[in-house]
Formats: sequence, structure tokens, C-alpha cells
Amino acid sequence: MEYLLKSGRLAAVRTSCLVVGIYAKRQLTEPATELNEHCEGALDRLLERGDFDGTAERYQFVYDLPGCSSERVLLIGLGPRDEFDLRAFRKAVAKSAAVLNESFPTEAVTCLSALEPSGATGYQVLRETVLASAGALYRFQQCKSKTEPQQRPLKRLGLHIGKRRKSVALQRALDHGQAIAQGVSIAKDLGNLPGNICTPSYLAAQARALGRRSRKLNVRVLGEKQMQELGMGALLSVSRGSRQPPKLIIMEYKGAGAAKPVVLVGKGLTFDAGGISIKPAAGMDEMKYDMCGGASVLGTLAACSAMELPINLIGVVPSSENLPDGNANKPGDIVTSMSGQTIEVLNTDAEGRLILCDALTYVERFSPAAVIDIATLTGACIIALGSHASGLMSNDDDLAEEVLAAGSASGDRAWRLPLWDDYQNQLDSNFADMANIGGKGAGTITAACFLSRFAKQFKWAHLDIAGSAWNSAPDKWSTGRPVPLLSQLLIKRCGLDS
Ligand code: BES
Ligand code: MN
Ligand code: ZN
Repeated sequence: MEYLLKSGRLAAVRTSCLVVGIYAKRQLTEPATELNEHCEGALDRLLERGDFDGTAERYQFVYDLPGCSSERVLLIGLGPRDEFDLRAFRKAVAKSAAVLNESFPTEAVTCLSALEPSGATGYQVLRETVLASAGALYRFQQCKSKTEPQQRPLKRLGLHIGKRRKSVALQRALDHGQAIAQGVSIAKDLGNLPGNICTPSYLAAQARALGRRSRKLNVRVLGEKQMQELGMGALLSVSRGSRQPPKLIIMEYKGAGAAKPVVLVGKGLTFDAGGISIKPAAGMDEMKYDMCGGASVLGTLAACSAMELPINLIGVVPSSENLPDGNANKPGDIVTSMSGQTIEVLNTDAEGRLILCDALTYVERFSPAAVIDIATLTGACIIALGSHASGLMSNDDDLAEEVLAAGSASGDRAWRLPLWDDYQNQLDSNFADMANIGGKGAGTITAACFLSRFAKQFKWAHLDIAGSAWNSAPDKWSTGRPVPLLSQLLIKRCGLDS
């Protein structure tokens, strides 16, 4: 898919389809007004007939507008004008891309990118036009023997900038949109792949492939032996129950000399059957998505390299399966983490924190400016927040604010939960330094409390993406979240977000 900036008089734009927004109650947007004036009120007359009123998500093709060089016009409903913000904007863009993709035109020019949703900058509008379009066009068909032939897919989209002037920032918005869309798509593909294909070795190979695409991105993978030497007893206790060898993927992007790096740590559990504390059968297939935290790290590193951000960024993905086996963790087993702290494994299904804790200890060596871990960590997070927000917990208020702000700006939102000391004693164990579960209450918080014990050396934020990383049936697909949030956070750190 190709995206390019467009400017100039709308009536003169030669394209197979011009996309024009209409607010609710038939209120014209500026591009619609311009077009209407040119075609002597034809648009107004059409709206007066009542076929189309600008309700959000509604659309209407219009042919042969007099004096208009484009073959057809696609009217898109934007909803009420006074409620038109970046969220409503993204929905309208996604709708128009989906409609175009299923219709005749393979090329179009959208005027939605000329709009001014409340509180949004030109940079944001253009970037989000690309991102929302790409999101709507995403398909996953890698595992179908015959891919449904798409008749006339959308191949080229011009983004009309209206009154805006072409600038470095607007071109950057387009580039950033494409880079983030690429990262999201990488994360989605890895998530949607089944556990028998997307194994720890496969994840590692994909990371290496990304490393080969960029000079500034260096990828290393540690195997079982090296993990043993490092004393990663918690991580290795999880992979013991699987025939797939575990991997520790380390991706280093160098864009800024000697500056301290931001470190992302992503849970790469390629299939979580629960281990000996086995999960119920219903819906267990969705545990192929238990590597989505890791996938978001690969996606964000890919986006960051494509944008060539002036920042140092390190991604670390501990990857393993969690299966029952004669050699697997048993409830009551005690393992020693890389930090030296001992852990009583009371539930083998609380495995994410076991692989993450050793990865957190490992990243101390990078003297990070900040560490953000991303994990499909607890079912309790879905109970608390559903699918709209990722759960956020942090040992640093400024970092927490930064993550929340990046979430709102990118539409990939997070919501903070407390990480008070009061919760810590739920992890008390009679036999080891801590248990790996915290009992009934506040499961998302006690999981974060567990991780916090391995994150004392740096500013740290934890994103629980159990609810946001994928949708369940009938829309069972990976979302690619939180690649948009993480990318936004990095772009903002570089001061390139406008
Ligand atoms: N990967 C799961 C969490 C999960 C479950 C994410 C369902 C999304 C949907 C994690 O490894 C897990 O099994 N967590 C347990 C923890 C419990 C044993 C304390 C859970 O949430 O049930
Ligand atoms: Mn589990
Ligand atoms: Zn898990």
C-alpha cells in the first residue's frame, strides 16, 4: 500500500474516488463545502433528499458530480461536529478504507486528512490517517491453502492536506504512520500465527530477520546453555516442561550515541497450556496469543528502526512454551531466579512472571533510562478493564504519566492501577522468598508486585495487555497493541510528535 500527500483544488483532483466527510445532520466539512460550491450545490441537493445524513459509520457513493474531475465521490459520515475528535476521526478513516477496499477503486484521494478533529495537530491527523487505514486493510491469510482472491484491493491512497502547507512535519507524519503500521502488522502476524509455527525459535528467527533489515539494529539470541550460565532458574523452570528450546531475544537499536537506553521487555510465551496447573479446554487455543507482549517489542523495534529515531532502544523477549510434561514445574516446586531470590511455584500457570523476572534482572546491565515490560499476564486484568485499556502499573509516577499520555495520544489507551506496598504480603511464602501467586484479590496488581521485586534498579512500568492484545471470537484477531502506544512514547521522547 502506498500513501502520498496531495494538495490543490478538490474539483481538479483526478482520481477514481474522492473521499469526503459529512458531519451529522448534513453539516458540510470544509472540503465538502469546497466541492459543493464547485458543483453548484449538487452535494447540498443530494443531502436534502435525505439518503445520507452524516451519521457516523454510514457511507454513500456519488457518481458524476458536475464539474468534478474524480470519477466518484465517497461520502463518509463523521457523526456530530462538536464530538468530532481524534477517536471519531480514526473510526471514519478506518470505515472509508474498508469500504474502498471492498469496492471498485484501487486508488483514491481522501479529504478526511484535511479535517481538524478537536485537539489534534496536522502531524497527528496525517499519521493517524495512515495508521487507521492500514489497520482496516490488514488481513491474515498465511495459513489458508487458498487465499481468497481480492478483486480490486486498495493500492494507493492520496492524503489531501486541505489548507495545510506541505512541510517536513507532514511528510514525517506520513513516514511515521507507515512505520508504525508496519510494526503493528508485524505484531499482529506473530500473534495470529499458531503455536506450532510461532515457537520461541521462530520468534528468534523473525527478530534476527528484522536485525538484517536495519544497520542500526543488532539482534542476539541466547539459548538454554547461556541462560543456565546466567542462573535464570525461573525462566528455565518454565521451559523445562516443553520440547521447544527457550530463547532470550535481545534487540539493540542504536540511534543516539551514548544516551541511556529505553528498554522494552515482552512476554514471549508462544503457547500457555498452564503447565501441570493445566487450563480448561474451552478457549485454550487463544493462549497462542500469550506471546503478544514479545510481538509488540519486535513490532516497536521495527517501527523505531524504520523511523530512524534518534534514541537508544533495547528490546528483550524471554520466550518459552508452558506445557505439562514429566519434567515440568510442579505446584510447590521452588526455583532460584537470576536475582538470587527464591520462588515457590504454587501455580504453574502463573508462568509469565517467572520468565519475565529473569529478563528484568538481565536488563540491569544496560543501565536503562526506563524499562517497560509488556505482557498478557493476568486474566484478572480482563475482568478489571475489559479490552479497551491495557493495565498500567509503575514504580515511578513520571514514567506512569508518560505512558498514559502516549496511550491517549495514540488512541491505544492504558489505565493505571495502584502498586501499593499493602499488596506485597499476598506473595508471602512459608518456604521460599516469595510465592508466584497472590491469592484471590487483585490478581493483576499482585502479579505486578511480583515483578516489582525484580525492578528495583530502574524506573519501571508494566503493561498488562491480557485484554487489549487480541479480540475473542467472532473477531478473533490480534490487535497489534500496544505498538502504537510504545511508538508514540518513543517519538515523543525524541520531540518528533508534531
Ligand atoms: N497468560 C495467562 C493470562 C491470561 C489468561 C491472559 C487469559 C489472557 C487471557 C497467564 O499466564 C495466566 O495463566 N495467569 C493466571 C495467573 C493465576 C494462576 C494467578 C490467570 O490469570 O489465571
Ligand atoms: Mn499462564
Ligand atoms: Zn501466560
